[in-house]
Amino acid sequence: MKKWYAVIGNPIEHSLSPLMHNTWMTSEERDAAYLPLHVLPENLEQAFEGMKLLGISGFNITIPHKETIIPLLDELDPLAEKMGAVNTVVRQGNGTYKGYNTDGLGFVKSLEDAVGKTHRDKQVLVIGAGGASRGICFALVQEGYTNITVANRTITKAQAICDELDVAAQALSLDEAEAQLAEFGIIVQTTSAGLNHSNFELPLSLENLSKTAIVADIVYNPLMTPFLAQSKEKGATVVTGLGMFIHQGALAYSYWTDVYPKAAVVEDVLLANLGGNK
Ligand code: ATR
Repeated sequence: MKKWYAVIGNPIEHSLSPLMHNTWMTSEERDAAYLPLHVLPENLEQAFEGMKLLGISGFNITIPHKETIIPLLDELDPLAEKMGAVNTVVRQGNGTYKGYNTDGLGFVKSLEDAVGKTHRDKQVLVIGAGGASRGICFALVQEGYTNITVANRTITKAQAICDELDVAAQALSLDEAEAQLAEFGIIVQTTSAGLNHSNFELPLSLENLSKTAIVADIVYNPLMTPFLAQSKEKGATVVTGLGMFIHQGALAYSYWTDVYPKAAVVEDVLLANLGGNK
């Protein structure tokens, strides 16, 4: 029987997940479909019951349901539990539903896809201390990165993330990070500064950036954020946010099908939709 999958959120119409997953499913000739479902917060429980009744095999979750889905699930993966947020749900063999979070690991996969796995001993600076930063920090530690610094406008939030990590990590103010920028081999931009397209504010000045640094941004629209564009001008290697989006989806897909799909299969179609080049 045809399998079906979905992404639920509010709003949902701009999600590129249906395009990405359907492209993978078609390329593998799977008898399956992936739908965007608009679910209002007050309808989450009923919507989930309906999806179960209709035999959904798995789904992704976006804003605002990543936290509120948790009490409705039968089981939680430890990383999702640590993060307090779920972006992927899998129907297991016994018909129960387990929640995962693939956002942070998706970032690490995208980083290593772009620059290899040989940088795990470098000093990593994660800028920002929201949910995205937390997920990335946990995933970096899980994958063997041991040298983590979190910098944030509100330093207490950066310290709170550091306190939760299983390795010693330091919290810095944005001014301190700016002054020490040359020491970091990997820099990850997770803040929403500059998300507004008419506002080119950077979270910190890149004046002291090392030429040998690898700089990643989790924002993928625009692909070349002002933060990445300036880093590139300074000679750094840049990693756009599209890879993180693709790999969080690829990991979810692998939990549903046991196949880790190729990023290259969806890259062009996503780039065309984002109106950009690599
Ligand atoms: P997400 O869950 O996507 O990470 P979030 O929880 O809203 O989003 O976190 C946004 C992050 O961007 C925070 O670290 C925020 O800093 P504060 O914790 O001090 O609020 C950061 N941020 C937002 N606008 C910023 C700006 N103009 N300059 C620097 N940091 C900014």
